[in-house]
Amino acid sequence: MKTTLFRTTLIAAAAAILSTAAFAQTGAKLKVGLMLPYTGTYASLGNAIENGFKLYLTEQGGKIAGREVEFVKVDDESDPSKATDNVNKLVKRDNVDVLIGTVHSGVAMAMAKVAKESGTILIVPNAGADAVTGAMCAPNIFRSSFSNWQPGYAMGEVMAKKGIKKVATITWKYAAGDESVRGFKEAFEKGGGTVVKELSLPFPNVEFQALLTDIAATKPDAVFTFFAGGGAVKFVKDYAAAGLKKTIPLYGSGFLTDGTLDAQGADADGLFTALHYADGIDTPRDKSFRLAYAKTYKLQPDVYAVQGYDAAQILGIGLKAVNGDTTKKAEFAAAVEAAKIDSPRGTFSLSKAHNPVQDFYLRQVTGKENKVVGIASKGLADPARGCKM
Ligand code: PHB
Repeated sequence: MKTTLFRTTLIAAAAAILSTAAFAQTGAKLKVGLMLPYTGTYASLGNAIENGFKLYLTEQGGKIAGREVEFVKVDDESDPSKATDNVNKLVKRDNVDVLIGTVHSGVAMAMAKVAKESGTILIVPNAGADAVTGAMCAPNIFRSSFSNWQPGYAMGEVMAKKGIKKVATITWKYAAGDESVRGFKEAFEKGGGTVVKELSLPFPNVEFQALLTDIAATKPDAVFTFFAGGGAVKFVKDYAAAGLKKTIPLYGSGFLTDGTLDAQGADADGLFTALHYADGIDTPRDKSFRLAYAKTYKLQPDVYAVQGYDAAQILGIGLKAVNGDTTKKAEFAAAVEAAKIDSPRGTFSLSKAHNPVQDFYLRQVTGKENKVVGIASKGLADPARGCKM
């Protein structure tokens, strides 16, 4: 019995050495499919994610688990109608070893479907589609970001505690907007508030005027919103220009003001949002990350950069455990599931459904910063509705 166990262990160890050696000998590069938006309203988000991912890689000497990395890039344009073709190109034509993507929830759901069917490892560095770590959850699908439910829920808790009673919501009509509002509503109504009006417009439209007129006529105590990227810039500016900022306080999930403050200027000043990252976290880990990012890219990092960086960290943790062999899915998953990820946002781990369990900061815009002013929700875990794993 003992001998058999010993022999099995020896064989496993030898196989691990051999497979690492095989990669080293053949110099087989790790093919990473980067599917992100490089054009459109989310273009800057895609770039920040790529920057963050590559920063981690540089810190590791350009290799993950001893393997050099080769990127195959696709601009997904945040267009769900092109998503299945785009991801199939990466998986079937380019034969990527892992998929990293994307920003837009609708596109990410198409990626998750293909990843689930093909078994390709997928790490989602932004898109919050609840289904990715809910009904579509799978052993080979991971997320370094959040679920749409999470920041909405955190802000709902904060606004109910502030004693706000009547809220109107406004967002884009697609998974990210719908699910942020749903998370918000769940916490806000549990805390005694009421959502009196739910407004939306199709993604990525930015013709807000009629909806702002509706908000002015409804006179809620406050507004909760999800917008991001270029759309968030215009919404914050239009809200102020309509004279609403002074009369009806605007709150949002933190994407409303993340990576956007240069363009929003004084119109964003004072806004409160909830997110899993903030300026002024003031830990050595975050400080060194920010310094390295600023030095490399001549830019300040935002939440998207952190999520890209952490997607690379997750890949590193999994790949080291399997000596670079991406076919060992179960061992890869076990290592990631057991990990405490040393993120600039603060340490986090993944839930059983592979979504971050993490703190949500309450932030307030001060000048060009989303200053942390408290914790909106501590160790918040997505309910992973529909996940059977
Ligand atoms: C999404 O579509 O899931 C999404 C897009 C941009 C964000 C957050 C979520 O900033």
